[in-house]
Amino acid sequence: MFWLNQTDPEVHEAIAQELKREQEKLVLIASENYVSRSILEAVGSVMTNKYAEGYPGRRYYAGCEAVDQVETLAIERARLLFGAEHVNVQPHSGSQANMAVYLSSIRPGDTILGMDLSHGGHLTHGSPVSFSGHYYNAVFYGVHRDTGLIDEQQVEALAKQHRPAIIIAGASAYPRIIDFAFFRRVANEVGAILLVDMAHFSGLVATGHHPSPFPHADFVTTSTHKTLRGPRGGMAFSKSNWAKALDKAVFPMMQGGPLMHVIAGKAVMLKEALSPDFKQYSENTLKNAKLLASELSEAGYRISTGGTDNHLMLLDLRNKNLTGKEAESYLAQAGIICNKNGVPYDDKPPTVTSGIRLGTPAITTRGLGEKEVVKIASMIHRILDSKGQGSVIDSVKSELVSLLKDFPIYAGL
Ligand SMILES: Cc1ncc(COP(=O)(O)O)c(C=O)c1O
Repeated sequence: MFWLNQTDPEVHEAIAQELKREQEKLVLIASENYVSRSILEAVGSVMTNKYAEGYPGRRYYAGCEAVDQVETLAIERARLLFGAEHVNVQPHSGSQANMAVYLSSIRPGDTILGMDLSHGGHLTHGSPVSFSGHYYNAVFYGVHRDTGLIDEQQVEALAKQHRPAIIIAGASAYPRIIDFAFFRRVANEVGAILLVDMAHFSGLVATGHHPSPFPHADFVTTSTHKTLRGPRGGMAFSKSNWAKALDKAVFPMMQGGPLMHVIAGKAVMLKEALSPDFKQYSENTLKNAKLLASELSEAGYRISTGGTDNHLMLLDLRNKNLTGKEAESYLAQAGIICNKNGVPYDDKPPTVTSGIRLGTPAITTRGLGEKEVVKIASMIHRILDSKGQGSVIDSVKSELVSLLKDFPIYAGL
């Protein structure tokens, strides 16, 4: 970062600090990952300069030849990767992708049925603090208290009672496979549109390590920076009959000029996701998650639903007399970064919570495997078991430094 160092040492220093943090800490946040150097280059490119309102071949500005090329590549690759009929690669984030779906297909005041945020859903699935709960009449399903699995009887009963315009399947903190065929059947029964928000597990769908929602859903949305390992952003897919409405909803209804540098990064991400290496990566992410869950379970931790089918797990710390907030802070002091997370039927507020969410996408990108995951589970256990005792934190911290030395990331950046 030669230029930035000269012109703005304060921002340069902050970025250098963030790089160091990413290199030196263990990232177990389920929604984070490390993009490739190629993606970093694309996102840091001159494409940030270009206004390109509209779509390839139909822009409102001259000079769009190169950005048209890159957006067309992103579209072609996204359709190929997921077997999708239509995609819009312009949403600035996963939340915008969901907003675009609502704007294209329902009206303010219509009813939407989504998963309760406190049971693992997402803000944009109807939470009152999000636009989605503000402009639409949101109804929520949840998970069973005893198993932690989606209460399908409740989904069906609520759908029949409220006849929602859209049913949303997908979550931010649900470790099991969602039965898309079930949701399709319920949507058909009540005449609803089915939206699958695959933000968390889209990378696993891309490689066939998670069932695909595409045969079942009218719309599929995703963020691009989680298991897909791309730049921060979103994509919205639809069946062909919704293509025009979806594109109009993204632009001009919801956004102005697309972030062409990020779309270039998405194109690179999609090429990477089509490669055999990425298939192996998804496989390893899953293996690491299953192993981490089973090691922690053996050490006496309650894992919501008893394990995981995807890249994440929820630790319910209520039997350990620890809050999520305490656990997050103790682990962070040793260099293990995760997030506090509400568990289903949590009695603590979201700022405290009774659990933590752990995910393996980032550590798997770094190349950590079975041997290291066993060590990580032991580190987590020692810290939590000691309730953050200083000497334990210090010893785990130095163990972690020596472990991560063998798995460098962004070397020489
Ligand atoms: C299920 C789900 N949908 C949507 C989003 C929103 O993505 P973004 O943060 O890019 O707006 C998230 C992010 O965590 C998510 O988990």
